[in-house]
Amino acid sequence: MPRDRFLPDRIWLRDGNGGHALCDRALDPERWNAAAFSDAPLVTQIREDADGFREPTSSASAPGTVLRMLEEARITDGQRVLEIGTGTGYHAALLAHRLGDGRVVSVEIDPVLADTARAALEAAGHTPTVVTGDGALGHAAAAPYDRIIATCSVRAVPAAWLAQTLPGARLVVPWSTSWVTYGTLVLTRRPDGTADGRFAGYGSYMVMRGQRAESDLDRDLLRDGQRPGRSETALSPWAVAGGDLDAQFAVGLRVPDVWHSWDTATDQAHTRLWLADDAATSWASVDHDGRQAAAFSVRQHGPRRLWDEVAAAHRHWAAAGGPRVADHGLAVTAGGHRVRVRAAGRPRKRPSAP
Ligand SMILES: C[S@@+](CC[C@H](N)C(=O)[O-])C[C@H]1O[C@@H](n2cnc3c(N)ncnc32)[C@H](O)[C@@H]1O
Repeated sequence: MPRDRFLPDRIWLRDGNGGHALCDRALDPERWNAAAFSDAPLVTQIREDADGFREPTSSASAPGTVLRMLEEARITDGQRVLEIGTGTGYHAALLAHRLGDGRVVSVEIDPVLADTARAALEAAGHTPTVVTGDGALGHAAAAPYDRIIATCSVRAVPAAWLAQTLPGARLVVPWSTSWVTYGTLVLTRRPDGTADGRFAGYGSYMVMRGQRAESDLDRDLLRDGQRPGRSETALSPWAVAGGDLDAQFAVGLRVPDVWHSWDTATDQAHTRLWLADDAATSWASVDHDGRQAAAFSVRQHGPRRLWDEVAAAHRHWAAAGGPRVADHGLAVTAGGHRVRVRAAGRPRKRPSAP
């Protein structure tokens, strides 16, 4: 199933600086084609707010990740599958090709995207049911399902997904915490309506609308007259917010509703890690002045001491041997979510500033 059939003429490609640059098929057909047939996720919709802040709101998933999720779902003949997040329709097309149009339902919250995907699917010879609506509610009219595959990430598994699946059903669900969007949860639905599973260490999907937190540092967080507590930390901010996704994942699970953002804009020699809670009651910053190697300046303000929480979570993770994402499991019951961790017993290298 060629992915180009499902892509709009205007896509956004990573610009190498953490942002995205427009690639217009009419202006640069070679680049557009190369992107279409690459194994990269391609942003297909960007929302820009009044302040000029741009946020990707839909994308065509990387084909390699799509295949990995399909393998994880263990699709076999005769199954009925619910996909959450139709996007371009590419993933739904693969499912429809494998199982038949009548066995695939895909839910997309954005009506324009849902219409475009329906048209692309039809042009490719497929007519799975594409529902315009909130995927958190599933699609009860066509339940029960043998599989649910979400292509947007969640911070909690919606109850409707377990209510609409059969015992033994598998759910493949990208994961997100406020700290990091990373990992893919593979759950098995039990006969009593609960579910249990494990995380796999891949996948970084945009967060499902309805479960996104506001992560806006300007939201009245920093005010004149605040007197943040000052201290020093020996823990490098790169240890919890750098390239170690296992550490980031563990911190995210243990420190609820706290996000972070690197700030290098003001001064090239100076790097600051900002932390804030989703409720915008507390913030913290950790500074690296370009020279320090063993101690970093910390400021913390508000009822939560966010850096202390993050540092404690990192200590806990390191003491357990630095478990990887795949060492984590999750049980979902009516009472909530319970994470379990298998101790890794693996020495970790201490990260340092770049
Ligand atoms: C990464 S894209 C999906 C990629 C898609 N499966 C494909 O193959 O192109 C995520 C999609 O999830 C959709 N989405 C976000 N929140 C949603 C929600 N609450 N219900 C349904 N769809 C949602 C977004 O609009 C976006 O199109």
